[in-house]
Amino acid sequence: MYIKPIGVIHSPFKKKEDFKQSKEKSLNDYEKSEGELEIFSEFEPGLKDIDNFSHLIIIFAFHKSRQRNLFAHPPHDGKKRGVFSTRSPDRPNPLGMTVVKLIKREKNRIKVSGVDMIEGTPILDIKPYTPKDLKEKALFGWLSKKQNNKCLDFDIS
Ligand SMILES: C[S@@+](CC[C@H](N)C(=O)[O-])C[C@H]1O[C@@H](n2cnc3c(N)ncnc32)[C@H](O)[C@@H]1O
Repeated sequence: MYIKPIGVIHSPFKKKEDFKQSKEKSLNDYEKSEGELEIFSEFEPGLKDIDNFSHLIIIFAFHKSRQRNLFAHPPHDGKKRGVFSTRSPDRPNPLGMTVVKLIKREKNRIKVSGVDMIEGTPILDIKPYTPKDLKEKALFGWLSKKQNNKCLDFDIS
């Protein structure tokens, strides 16, 4: 299998430590973080028809992750969790996924909000956020508010 980046993310977060400084932020605070997806020119034709989607799913490489762990300690949780029940960057295949809001596209540059990746993160794929991505009656495992997780602002009751 060979995967080639289709672009790069420009982010207000210049390095991993910039996230640590905002540890007290809730997950929803990242919704306001604006950035830009720079798509390499050879892939620009593939952006045709993307403009009228409000949200995009960005698949990217955690290129600054150096550990391949099967367990993670999510912030605010204090417990050891199986990595596949977390969004930790330190996982067997360092792939990330973020749903961003499309603000504006100019040719190969797409302004978005909801950025939680660092500057220079390689973009591997873009998919539209579609009605099929809306799931009713979803459960959120250990992230449940009932377990007193400060990260979570969702009301799942
Ligand atoms: C919890 S992850 C969530 C990312 C994505 N929304 C996901 O679910 O896959 C966000 C963390 O990833 C780290 N991160 C962001 N971009 C990274 C990169 N390119 N390489 C390594 N770590 C990165 C940041 O330090 C941040 O704390």
